[in-house]
Amino acid sequence: MTVFDARSDAASAPPASPPVIMLADVMKSYAMGSEVVHAVRHVDLRVDRGEFVAIVGASGSGKSTLMSITGCLDFPTSGHYSLEGVNIRDLDDRALSRIRNTRIGFVFQGFNLIPRMSALQNVELPLVYGGIPHRERRQRAVAALTLVGLANRLDHWPNELSGGQQQRVAVARAIGTNPALILADEPTGALDTTSSLELMALFHELHAHGRTIVMITHEHDIAAFASRVVELRDGSIISDRRQEPTSVGA
Ligand SMILES: Nc1ncnc2c1ncn2[C@@H]1O[C@H](COP(=O)(O)OP(=O)(O)OP(=O)(O)O)[C@@H](O)[C@H]1O
Ligand SMILES: [Mg+2]
Repeated sequence: MTVFDARSDAASAPPASPPVIMLADVMKSYAMGSEVVHAVRHVDLRVDRGEFVAIVGASGSGKSTLMSITGCLDFPTSGHYSLEGVNIRDLDDRALSRIRNTRIGFVFQGFNLIPRMSALQNVELPLVYGGIPHRERRQRAVAALTLVGLANRLDHWPNELSGGQQQRVAVARAIGTNPALILADEPTGALDTTSSLELMALFHELHAHGRTIVMITHEHDIAAFASRVVELRDGSIISDRRQEPTSVGA
């Protein structure tokens, strides 16, 4: 693993950007009656800009718990988490929700679209929260939906779209704010094989354009599309390897 060394060639090198994700000795424990469940144990994880990381592991291994922490939806019980160099412990609720809204694009298994809003309105919503003016918001939402191949579905409601199309709306919503990180929890979990492969082709394209993606999956053939695979067991990282991603369309 590369270690950031600010001393090397410090005079001439451009300032390095901080890692997108830096988890240091992160623990997450839940008290269940007299028992304590350690959902995440001593996790150290650094993800740099432009990486496409799959997090794999059996059911109950701590993947979603780790995603909640990484997505600033929950705090570690102990340890440190910095997102783009900002220690999230230092943030108040307002700053945290701003980070969630503008720096992280979430993609969930169940799409999580607002049912009574069009595709366009769904994609615009985080931009509304982000205070982007109306005209720019619309332009960005249309551009994001065009990128995911849904320029001809702007005014469809979620229930008028296929599962694969709904997930692509969710991806458009996730990228519309130009986030530092796309965080996806089982994004193919509710999709058929064809739609899953289409989604991976889209992730491949986003990665090729420099996006940072962390994707949770329990499917090894989906993890194969990432360039790095981190495996959890009982809350701990048991392997972390880089790989040549499966080529899209292969
Ligand atoms: N809010 C909670 N309270 C108590 N225990 C919890 C809570 N959330 C998770 N756990 C426990 O922590 C462990 C990890 O759960 P987590 O949901 O992170 O697993 P996962 O890897 O996402 O599993 P799956 O593949 O089934 O989604 C499990 O043993 C779970 O029961
Ligand atoms: Mg889970």
